[in-house]
Amino acid sequence: MKPKFVCRKPGPKSLKVVGRDNKVISPSLTREYSFVLKKGKGCYLWDVDNRKYLDFAAGVAVMNIGHTNPVIEKAVRRQIRNAVHVGFSDFYAELPVKFVEYLLTFLPKHLNKAFLSNSGTEAVEAAYKLARWHTNKKWAIAFKPSFHGRTMGSLSLTNSRPVQRERFWPFLPVKHALYPYCYRCPFKNKEHDGCVNLYLEVLEEKMGECDKDVAAVFLEPVSGEGGYLVPPKDFVKGVRELCDDHGVLLCDDEVQAGCYRTGKFLAIENFDVKADIVALSKAIGGGVPLGATVANEKTMDWIAGSHANTFGGNLLACAAGLATLKFMRQKKLGENAKKVGSYMISRLEEMKDEYEIIGDVRGIGMMIGVEIVKSKSTKEYGIEERSDILCKSSEKGLLMLPAGVSTIRICPPLILTKEQADLGLDILEDSIKEVCA
Ligand SMILES: Cc1ncc(COP(=O)(O)O)c(C=O)c1O
Repeated sequence: MKPKFVCRKPGPKSLKVVGRDNKVISPSLTREYSFVLKKGKGCYLWDVDNRKYLDFAAGVAVMNIGHTNPVIEKAVRRQIRNAVHVGFSDFYAELPVKFVEYLLTFLPKHLNKAFLSNSGTEAVEAAYKLARWHTNKKWAIAFKPSFHGRTMGSLSLTNSRPVQRERFWPFLPVKHALYPYCYRCPFKNKEHDGCVNLYLEVLEEKMGECDKDVAAVFLEPVSGEGGYLVPPKDFVKGVRELCDDHGVLLCDDEVQAGCYRTGKFLAIENFDVKADIVALSKAIGGGVPLGATVANEKTMDWIAGSHANTFGGNLLACAAGLATLKFMRQKKLGENAKKVGSYMISRLEEMKDEYEIIGDVRGIGMMIGVEIVKSKSTKEYGIEERSDILCKSSEKGLLMLPAGVSTIRICPPLILTKEQADLGLDILEDSIKEVCA
């Protein structure tokens, strides 16, 4: 089936907004193409020139329940009449409590207390501070590549693109071990089945360098910005075991992979592993800024005044969060992510066999990476090719994002149907064909 809404170059209204944006908005943001949002509905977006797009980006894995979902409008409207903000650090309100009580029903039983915030970086920052508070230890270990946010605590953990860290030294005490990148295994000269142990050896080595002063290991169960990398199950289990052996907390960053994106509510469940502290954000607020850091009450033992914020527990965010979680459960979004996501992966695998520039297809559920290379034999990163595919697809009415060095990130709303998946993949295939030619 061909798309009915083929876009050409950015329209005049879009170009105007881009021009105004360039004058007043911080140049630190990264935009791959000139899409200017007017409105959204379900899995579709319209730009200010009234062009329609299928959305395989979901506002960077945020709009899992789809755009302008009526449940959000209803919940926020109802709440806005009563109160918008209470100052939850200083006063009480029932709604944030109700939200957390409901959130806990999605999580393993041992996670029974939450700190609320407004974004992914804040949820990770709280996890980092909590780990340091609880253990009274200094070091943290994260991975390369990894992305945990951009405030100084989470940025110290982040190690993805050099530009994100350049000039921001000195960082907090963090060491980086290697995240498994199976398509580009750094241990390729060794036996493949020994790789997991080699990755774990690097992690243990890093722990050893910290003089028994490690508070936590921070792990993305599926690496997001790093290129949608799926680690081997034994690796994630091995990380848990090393944490247990060394008395170190395991902090699970579910900001991108959580909220059913991989089929399970927490992506780490795919690996049969339980974490000590979990950071959630992005999709949990249905598009309204919301973050949550969750742990067991024995771990969340910091004292009054040690960590707080102004907007955590914001009433509109909690109303949206509660409505989002109810919708996710009611509509079984995890099952849809798994079913339609598996179908998409199998279609992309077929494309990989056909096109020389698709080096790797990987993912779980609707967290799918397509790594573009110049040729399969050299595996040279296809950076320009990736940009071309993203731009051509946007011109044809499909929005996607980059991740890693040359990977296309596919993270649509989890309400995506098989027909919509086919529509998007047809556009992607057309673009790949054109770039190959
Ligand atoms: C895994 C992960 N952690 C943390 C963050 C930071 O979230 P935010 O941009 O809301 O601060 C992101 C953002 O992409 C992320 O993917």
